[in-house]
Amino acid sequence: MKLTILPGDGIGPEVCREAVRILRALNGFYNREFEIHERPVGGAAIRSTGSPLPDSTLDACLNSDAVLLGAVGGPEFDGLSREQRPESGLLRLRAALGGFANLRPAVSFQAITECSPLRRSRVEGADVLIVRELLGGLYFAEPRGFADGHDSAYNTMRYSAEEIERIACIAFDQARLRRKKVTSVDKANVLETSQLWRRIVTEVGESYPDVKLDHMYVDACAMHLISNPTRFDVILTENLFGDILSDEAAAITGSLGMLASATVGGATNLYEPVHGSAPDIAGKGIANPLGAIASVAMLLRHSAGMHHEAADLETAIQHVLNAGHRTADIAVNGTSHVTSTREMGELVEHAFVALLDRRYSYHAV
Ligand code: NAD
Ligand code: IPM
Ligand code: MN
Repeated sequence: MKLTILPGDGIGPEVCREAVRILRALNGFYNREFEIHERPVGGAAIRSTGSPLPDSTLDACLNSDAVLLGAVGGPEFDGLSREQRPESGLLRLRAALGGFANLRPAVSFQAITECSPLRRSRVEGADVLIVRELLGGLYFAEPRGFADGHDSAYNTMRYSAEEIERIACIAFDQARLRRKKVTSVDKANVLETSQLWRRIVTEVGESYPDVKLDHMYVDACAMHLISNPTRFDVILTENLFGDILSDEAAAITGSLGMLASATVGGATNLYEPVHGSAPDIAGKGIANPLGAIASVAMLLRHSAGMHHEAADLETAIQHVLNAGHRTADIAVNGTSHVTSTREMGELVEHAFVALLDRRYSYHAV
């Protein structure tokens, strides 16, 4: 498989390095499965080429079997016009790859329940999958812009029935692999787009009689998500609501650095941790690479068809946490040694290879 790695900005390159370590370990184990190429994106690409998504980067991504991205953006680019910003490069990349379904799991790990700001009794066992529509709504619909000089501005929230239907199908399909419950989140008490959303999701739901569907307003969801996260299985929602709720869902796990994502449904799947470039900790070697590494697990599952290896990688992450290893963001009172980004990557690599070894010797017998 051909993989394009887009490290990007801030902690992006730091966490990507550890994700690539895992891919290289797999290459070592299986005597090469992945061809890995790195390309610039975001602020890094602006510096080297003047564009946040150079043609050579986009071409490489379109000619890959999967793309893994670190993060883009940073304060030094915040003054640029919208189209020139690093974030625009990412949005153009998402549109070009075509994946409309962004899967963002948020899971409470037994070993680090105390990292959550939420009471242990509330988060224990929580396992939510946010299915975020990624190519529509306020992010992409036209018209948009400034008016009256620059004294007013507008964006368009628009969804077609077709866009809603295809993302709803993904959510119901995912629910069938889990606890068979979809909560569709909208603002149907105010917005026409949400009224359409609710109608289409309900219609799609009729083809999935084995999956329980309920609807919730986004404001109430923001509250229920942290006061009773175990009530959720799959949350299905539009682009901006999903952006906001997925960062909020990080409270379940304890740190934004833990969350992974996969974007599927297009020509090429895109994998990225949920977090951004974290300018406040960039360059210090302390970022949590587990979100990026868990994104590799999603890549193994959704793009490489390596289901055992994906599960092994997730188990490896759990083993490392169970053994007490913590990056700074998930360290608590009593953590004896806070690991660096790199140490965490190495620990997961070793745990992963040990699991692969065990699986391999089992099959060899
Ligand atoms: P952020 O996600 O970068 O950081 C929010 C907070 O979480 C910070 O305190 C940060 O230190 C912490 N954090 C994030 N990831 C972490 C990790 N792996 N380990 C430890 N701590 C971690 O969000 P922000 O500060 O609002 O945005 C910074 C920049 O990133 C902005 O330019 C924004 O546009 C961009 N951004 C990019 C992406 C992406 O590329 N997918 C996503 C979100 C934000
Ligand atoms: C995310 C980010 C992006 C988004 C930004 C950087 C464009 O916040 O992936 O969650 O809003 O989708
Ligand atoms: Mn976000």
